[in-house]
Amino acid sequence: MTRHLLITGGAGFIAGNLVHHWAAAHPNDTLVVLDALTYAGNRATIEPLIAAGRLSFVHGNINDRPLLDRLLAEHAITHVAHLAAESHVDRSITGPGAFLATNVNGTFTLLEAFRAHWQSADSPGHWRFLHVSTDEVFGSLEPSDPPFNETTAYSPRSPYAASKAASDHLARAWQHTYGLPVLVSNCSNNYGPYHFPEKLIPLTLINILLGRSIPVYGDGSNVRDWLYVEDHCRALESVLLRGEPGRTYCIGGCNEVANLDLVRLLCALMDELAPELPIRPSEELIRFVSDRPGHDRRYAIDASLIQNELGWQPQVTVEQGLRRTVEWYLAHRSWWQPLLSDQYASYMEQQYAARLA
Ligand code: NAD
Ligand code: DAU
Repeated sequence: MTRHLLITGGAGFIAGNLVHHWAAAHPNDTLVVLDALTYAGNRATIEPLIAAGRLSFVHGNINDRPLLDRLLAEHAITHVAHLAAESHVDRSITGPGAFLATNVNGTFTLLEAFRAHWQSADSPGHWRFLHVSTDEVFGSLEPSDPPFNETTAYSPRSPYAASKAASDHLARAWQHTYGLPVLVSNCSNNYGPYHFPEKLIPLTLINILLGRSIPVYGDGSNVRDWLYVEDHCRALESVLLRGEPGRTYCIGGCNEVANLDLVRLLCALMDELAPELPIRPSEELIRFVSDRPGHDRRYAIDASLIQNELGWQPQVTVEQGLRRTVEWYLAHRSWWQPLLSDQYASYMEQQYAARLA
């Protein structure tokens, strides 16, 4: 069956990796990327595939309904992987408006456009819409709590998490009410190539290379469940191709690590792998700063459902994945250096001025 896949947010971190994964794994599928190229979008991530004519790139916003209608019809879209979003928790605390506009209203607009397109089709039996979400919608775990799973009640605690929770509810409501073939996935923290420098792992690596402080929020004891992005892409592929519409799949790495331990692992890898560093050992750069307001203590995912139902499980251990990630950032300075623009530098300065005060 012919597949025409639209990937929203395809110039971002996870969707950019998904675009590369899909292009290699499904050479006969038509690929279309829609991305607004916000500060987090980087066309360079997928430029080789655009240049090779492997995908159509559309620069535009998921809130632009006429554009969506045109794009869905012109490319005869049958499948959607919806990843476009405002994704950074710290930015949602200082400026929540963009999160509501994109994550809530943008998802609504895309669902409505896809519904109209789907309702006008002759035989859309195999069509799918995958809404990609986060474990942050479940709230925060204490150390002794069991991991989140598909039955955990929603309890979002940051503006980012609340906006993603709202979009998950919309996606499920469109499935329940209109029968739209929607699937939802909730995933833990990803890491790997093409990760924007504001996030903890790339921020740590780049700051070590530049001899800058590594800001650790609070006492560094908050825990995240880390998943290598390629493993997430394989999970999304399984859900989109073999998942049952109406279902939710929790995806996680089974790799719980406290932030300070993670940063120390990264420091050790950089000391080993980076040829020259301004400060060595890198751990000397660690600086404890004031905590993120409302900082969730711990996230962890029980991924048994997707393992049992779709046969997916992570293949990359955190040791392997972190080493690969360090090697990638060392070998791809030309990808991340242009992202350290004046605009980005002034955002980071504001963040740390507030945290060090
Ligand atoms: P990202 O910030 O790296 O990329 C988001 C992309 O969306 C960017 O390319 C940006 O330009 C684009 N975009 C933003 N607003 C848009 C709009 N209005 N219209 C069109 N494009 C727009 O994000 P990411 O970290 O790759 O996350 C992708 C998705 O996965 C998000 O939905 C996020 O909630 C979810 N998720 C992320 C993680 C993680 O660890 N990063 C974990 C679980 C789920
Ligand atoms: O859990 C999934 C979520 O993971 C996704 O939904 C989000 O889109 C993604 O950004 C990520 O959110 P986090 O807030 O967990 O990621 P971040 O890299 O911002 O922070 C990871 C942890 O490190 C968190 O506990 C806060 C802490 N931190 C972060 C930064 C940027 C620091 O200690 N210092 C920092 O400078």
